[in-house]
Order: sequence, then C-alpha cells, then structure tokens
Amino acid sequence: MKSILAIYPGSFDPVTNGHLDLIERGTNIFHRLIVAVLRNLEKEPLFDLAERVEMLREVTRPWPSVEVDVFDGLLVNYVRQRKAQVILRGIRAISDYEYELQMALMNRKMEPQIETVFLMPAATYSYLSSRLVREIARLGGSIQGLVPPAVERRLRAKVPQAAREEAI
Ligand code: PNS
Repeated sequence: MKSILAIYPGSFDPVTNGHLDLIERGTNIFHRLIVAVLRNLEKEPLFDLAERVEMLREVTRPWPSVEVDVFDGLLVNYVRQRKAQVILRGIRAISDYEYELQMALMNRKMEPQIETVFLMPAATYSYLSSRLVREIARLGGSIQGLVPPAVERRLRAKVPQAAREEAI
C-alpha cells in the first residue's frame, strides 16, 4: 500500500487536548503526519511561533510518526512542497463545517490532487478551542483538562497571577 503523508495545519495558539485527540486519531490512519504551524497569524498570537512549535514538539513526542513544522503562505503550496497527499482538519460541531468546507473546496480548486480529510475529536472536546482557552486563562479560570500539563504551565507563566487576580 502507498505510504500516506498527511498535513495537519493550524495556528495552535496554544495546542489543546482537542488538537492532541485529533493528532492521535491521525496517527492511527496515516503513515506519517506533519503538524504544520502557520507562521504569520492575522492577529497577534499569545504564544510566538517558537513557543507554539516547542509545545507541539513536547506533547507529540509519544508519536514517532509525527513531525512538527512551520509553514507560511498558501497551505496547498506547502502540501505540494512536502509531497503530502492529505490535509487533515477537525470538525467539532456543525458550526465548523461551513468554514471548513469553504477552505477544503478552495484548496481543491487550487490543487485537485490533494484531499482534505475531516476527523471528529472526542465529544468531550467538542466545545474546546484555543481562543476560549486563552480567554479563560487570561480571566483566571481553570484550564485543567483542556490543555496538556506542559501547556497549562506555560499559560500560567504567560498570564501572571496579578493579572489573573485583577480579572476576578
Ligand atoms: O487553526 P486555524 O486557525 O483554524 O487554522 C487555519 C489554517 C492555518 C488552516 C488556514 O488559515 C490556512 O490554511 N492558512 C494558510 C493560508 C491559505 O492557504 N489560505 C487559503 C485557504 S483556502
């Protein structure tokens, strides 16, 4: 059987347990999986690129078939350059579908050879997003169980206790 390389692109600001769940599912399907972090986000990220990559490398260490890389510009160009066949994306709820479908079809228009494969994370993570994790951490709420412990530690360090207390 042909070896399938999939690319899981995203902002990962920061990586959550929902992302990890999807990565694990991806490793069960594809021979190799590249988690590709978008270099230039439209909004100022909480974690800079090096931090996002470092956290991803740390939490994906259990899976030897996973590589963490960085990309810039059009995703399809990067997928072509890495000679991958598949783009992996997660769909949590129907609300994700419209945006994901639009992206998948636009990517297909630009590069018909590349297939987008959607996987659903465990239902426990269907409400989880990096944006909410950042907001909860900033406002002093508990993020336990939402992100890996290594990310939780970094989030705590990023949002100083004083700022959290101020927010309460
Ligand atoms: O984690 P996110 O923010 O939902 O990931 C979005 C991402 C990085 C997959 C998307 O913004 C993307 O592919 N950006 C690269 C630029 C690109 O190719 N744009 C055209 C998409 S049709």
